[in-house]
Amino acid sequence: MLFIWLFLLLSYLRNSTSLDSLLPGQSIRDGETLVSEEETFEVGFFSPGTSTGRYLGIWYRNVSPLIVVWVANRETPLQNKSGVLKLDERGVLVILNGTNSTIWWSYNTSSKVIKNPIAQLLDSGNIVVRNEHDINEDNFLWQSFDYPCDKLLPGMKIGWNLVTGLDRTISSWKKEDDPAKGEYSLKLDLKGFPQLFGYKGNAIRFRVGSWNGQALVGYPIRPLTEYVHELVFNEKEVYYEYKTLDRSIFFIVTLNSSGIGNVLLWTNQTRGIQVFSLWSDLCENYAMCGANSICSMDGNSQTCDCIKGYVPKFPEQWNVSKWYNGCVPRTTPDCRNSNTDGFLRYTDLKLPDTSSSWFNTTINLEECKKYCLKNCSCKAYANLDIRNGGSGCLLWFDDLIDMRKFSIGGQDIYFRIQASSVLGTQCFGCLTSVSLLLFV
Ligand SMILES: *[C@@H]1O[C@H](CO)[C@@H](O)[C@H](O)[C@H]1NC(C)=O
Ligand SMILES: *[C@@H]1O[C@H](CO)[C@@H](O)[C@H](O)[C@H]1NC(C)=O
Ligand SMILES: *[C@@H]1O[C@H](CO)[C@@H](O)[C@H](O)[C@H]1NC(C)=O
Ligand SMILES: *[C@@H]1O[C@H](CO)[C@@H](O)[C@H](O)[C@H]1NC(C)=O
Ligand SMILES: *[C@@H]1O[C@H](CO)[C@@H](O)[C@H](O)[C@H]1NC(C)=O
Ligand SMILES: *[C@@H]1O[C@H](CO)[C@@H](O)[C@H](O)[C@H]1NC(C)=O
Ligand SMILES: *[C@@H]1O[C@H](CO)[C@@H](O)[C@H](O)[C@H]1NC(C)=O
Ligand SMILES: *[C@@H]1O[C@H](CO)[C@@H](O)[C@H](O)[C@H]1NC(C)=O
Ligand SMILES: *[C@@H]1O[C@H](CO)[C@@H](O)[C@H](O)[C@H]1NC(C)=O
Repeated sequence: MLFIWLFLLLSYLRNSTSLDSLLPGQSIRDGETLVSEEETFEVGFFSPGTSTGRYLGIWYRNVSPLIVVWVANRETPLQNKSGVLKLDERGVLVILNGTNSTIWWSYNTSSKVIKNPIAQLLDSGNIVVRNEHDINEDNFLWQSFDYPCDKLLPGMKIGWNLVTGLDRTISSWKKEDDPAKGEYSLKLDLKGFPQLFGYKGNAIRFRVGSWNGQALVGYPIRPLTEYVHELVFNEKEVYYEYKTLDRSIFFIVTLNSSGIGNVLLWTNQTRGIQVFSLWSDLCENYAMCGANSICSMDGNSQTCDCIKGYVPKFPEQWNVSKWYNGCVPRTTPDCRNSNTDGFLRYTDLKLPDTSSSWFNTTINLEECKKYCLKNCSCKAYANLDIRNGGSGCLLWFDDLIDMRKFSIGGQDIYFRIQASSVLGTQCFGCLTSVSLLLFV
């Protein structure tokens, strides 16, 4: 009897203190919050930094300092604490101001059938609107994970739903205390073989790159083993996501208001937030060395080296460390003799931009080489997936852009070398460690 009574009391307390959802007509005022079931996340009104504007946001409940992972009304702050978050009768989440004007809403119409809608904050940090008895995420009426702000959380997708045209991108805050959309963004680009890029406005600033089955080519070393990540690539969707295997660890990717990608890491051991910058050196700048040239760091100094068989386009600029015009082939391609061309293997590289690459997931490296040799304008080839000894094929037909040398990690790539260009010629700006190179 006592147990039943205790149980009832506990469930009453639970429902009254850690409510994670709203039913139609229900609302929370500024000062009240919804808390996810396992108390990982909380949603409510806040003011960032020195700002006086009020925003509806989601943050980690038990982590300090406050990490806001999502903001609803990022462009339309409330002027005072009279804001209300409400689920309306149609199943739309709305933010009302003190005079009941709607200043933000989750969506206008839904093509899905709405029946007993409920809004719920999940332990993943996703606030969703769904039909009460339908927890299948494909049927969610709306979810904040589809409208990212400046942070990518475990389980969140960056990229495309090709059926609806939804493009989920990360966008920086304008300033540290202004969550409005800033000028920096992180997007998945579908041209050629899909890649993640960091942009400033419409200009590419850095290239995280494509997926090699194990990592993103720009960041071959994983800072943690306790997470898995993948690129999903089919007719309906192309997106990147990662998941943490241990829920006591959190790992989030954020693009700050100066456009720098950072990884925020929190573990039981550290019990504090560690920040790892994804911007390690000058070679992170997109196309730092121009075309057909490889960026490398020696301590703090950065240099560029033409691929073997290529020479600086403007040697006098190259001599004074102006690299951006890159390198050009030493000799014009002789397509009549292209069958006698060879390939040079370079190792530990960030593969070049794949925006205009051809790819095939099934053919092997030997066939890949044959495809490349067959077409005179093919400049290089590499495996698409590096797991289990490598599989698939990537071919490049244009200038090779944005390569860098890694001290560890990185991939093998085979550059086409015209037979005529290597015979008895010297080599400007070749990689110094020629032992890395192998004729194949
Ligand atoms: C918010 O501002 C409105 C109009 O300026 C005022 O009527 C209201 O009392 C204010 N509410 C709070 C909670 O300060
Ligand atoms: C609420 O928003 C409306 C429309 O933007 C505005 O005219 C009104 O002054 C706002 N009220 C408060 C209390 O901020
Ligand atoms: C706003 O709506 C609530 C609930 O419908 C109502 O109680 C309140 O009087 C309204 N406030 C204003 C200023 O219209
Ligand atoms: C809702 O509709 C308005 C006007 O048609 C549009 O400006 C707004 O972007 C829409 N909001 C969403 C979330 O689709
Ligand atoms: C982290 O702490 C929680 C409880 O404090 C514990 O259950 C969990 O096993 C710990 N995880 C690690 C990786 O130490
Ligand atoms: C962005 O992150 C970088 C690297 O962690 C840091 O140096 C910079 O100060 C940050 N910018 C802002 C506005 O926080
Ligand atoms: C570049 O520098 C090298 C060695 O310092 C020199 O031999 C060469 O003539 C220079 N080339 C040009 C175009 O200035
Ligand atoms: C990949 O190559 C194989 C073998 O040549 C071919 O059968 C397949 O259609 C190709 N796939 C694509 C998507 O081109
Ligand atoms: C070589 O590849 C390019 C780029 O895919 C293509 O436009 C061209 O037609 C190909 N040439 C031959 C001879 O197959």
